[in-house]
Amino acid sequence: MIRVLAAFLVCLFFMPSFSQTSSSINIIPKPVSLKTKPGSFKVDRNTKLVVKDEGDRGTADFFSDYVKKYYGLSLEVAREADKNYISFATKKFIKAPDNEEHYTLNSSTNSVSVEGDSYAGTFRGMQSIIQLLPVKKSSNLGIPLVTIDDQPRLAYRGLMLDVARHFFSVEFVKKYIDFIALHKMNRFHWHLTDDQGWRIEIKKHPKLTEVGGYRNGTIIGRYPGTGNDNIRYGGFYTQDEIKEVVAYAAKRYITVIPEIEMPGHAKAALAAYPFLGCTGGPYEVRQTWAVEDEVFCAGNDSVFALLQDVMDEVLPLFPSEYVHVGGDECPKSRWKTCPKCQKRIKDENLKDEHELQSYFIQRMEKYINSKGKKIIGWDEILEGGLAPNATVMSWRGEQGGIEAAKQDHDVIMTPGSFVYLDHSQSKKEDSVTIGGYLSIQKVYSYDPVPKVLNKEQQKHILGAQGNVWTEYMANPRKVEYMIFPRLTALSEVLWSPSTPRSWDEFEKRLSVQFKRYDLWKVNYSRAMYTDMRIKVDKKKKIASN
Ligand code: ACM
Ligand code: ZN
Repeated sequence: MIRVLAAFLVCLFFMPSFSQTSSSINIIPKPVSLKTKPGSFKVDRNTKLVVKDEGDRGTADFFSDYVKKYYGLSLEVAREADKNYISFATKKFIKAPDNEEHYTLNSSTNSVSVEGDSYAGTFRGMQSIIQLLPVKKSSNLGIPLVTIDDQPRLAYRGLMLDVARHFFSVEFVKKYIDFIALHKMNRFHWHLTDDQGWRIEIKKHPKLTEVGGYRNGTIIGRYPGTGNDNIRYGGFYTQDEIKEVVAYAAKRYITVIPEIEMPGHAKAALAAYPFLGCTGGPYEVRQTWAVEDEVFCAGNDSVFALLQDVMDEVLPLFPSEYVHVGGDECPKSRWKTCPKCQKRIKDENLKDEHELQSYFIQRMEKYINSKGKKIIGWDEILEGGLAPNATVMSWRGEQGGIEAAKQDHDVIMTPGSFVYLDHSQSKKEDSVTIGGYLSIQKVYSYDPVPKVLNKEQQKHILGAQGNVWTEYMANPRKVEYMIFPRLTALSEVLWSPSTPRSWDEFEKRLSVQFKRYDLWKVNYSRAMYTDMRIKVDKKKKIASN
């Protein structure tokens, strides 16, 4: 009897994890706790979306737009309903939630309800309802019966888009933000300026976009290229468009972090205003990829004055507490021979050009802090001394992030070997990419919180981000191909508990997600299956030898 009871208790204990892998529930990122019951809730044209608080209206709108777009069903929003409803509610009594994106989701044959600890939590919970809907367009919209209690592991869950190497329309940027939202991610890092284009209108310095927004050609093929297309290329966002995108993201509880690159990756700005460079130019907006030697002069006060003007216009457009100031890949060759830069090194008692780079970043940080905002910089900002309040984005591996956390600075992990979504995702990639090989399995294996850090230091790891550099992504279809399905794996790395995590179990849910990509009509890579086949073939060969 005792043995029977023990077996029963063991079964009970394992039920939740068993139900998470049940075939009908395939939520990604995997919820912290999920229990299922037999049966389903049927969504039909009489189903009401109940919103008691106007703060949850945007969440109901997102859901109703989704259901209309993908299933052709129009649902009404109502204040209340006693049956056949989906309700979106936010707990009012929690002033400062421990984890504001926490939510619970319960479905019965009568109703489905999501309750978040904040509006953002309710929105994230609504994404789980979306993932409970069928992946095929159907008039029979069943939502399985579940009880979910869920919250993210990491606070910063980001995706970057480089719009300098190739420019993307406001329409696509919004679509990209929806991809972020559909994965319960919450940061959009918008890389707005680089050598190949300045993409944000600055009213006081209009040439930044009039001149810096366009290049007179682009190399053909993989760097260094087989020629130049000699086609004028470019574009930029007006400040009104930026506001529109920021508001669109805010409705999805996504913070937009702008990046204005300095002191390197600045050639487009130099082309617009040649006094910004060490030699005085003339300069052209760069037509090829890789690192550029011409950078902002660090010895000329007029450079800082212009960049402060830029910040005066950029900062008010973005509610984000952060602005990203770049700081990566800044060659020091011009500074070494520039009398103004050398004078600055002498006057400020700096040791070398690395300290001059720190001087540059710290001077800008001081200005940005005085406006109530904080900076993020790529990990090169560690060289020559960190700016006092800077957050470090670690891209050349994790070492920069580890070092920054040890120095009590916040960190966002973006190591190339795990989250650079511009790298090839197949060993037999048939489109041109920047190179490298980053399989979805490798993305899925990532843990952004390094074990070498102690508990206190680990708290500095805010999260991680996928980076999408677009040298070899000239159109939205290619961007989609590069981010899917790896973005889906990354979303689980960022949201779900780090254990237990099983690729085999994830892959089953992912195969359903592939059908959801079809529903969305997005372009995605199937390389995962090709590479697995190569592996199996190799094994077979070894076995038969
Ligand atoms: C970078 O990839 N240059 C930050
Ligand atoms: Zn100089």
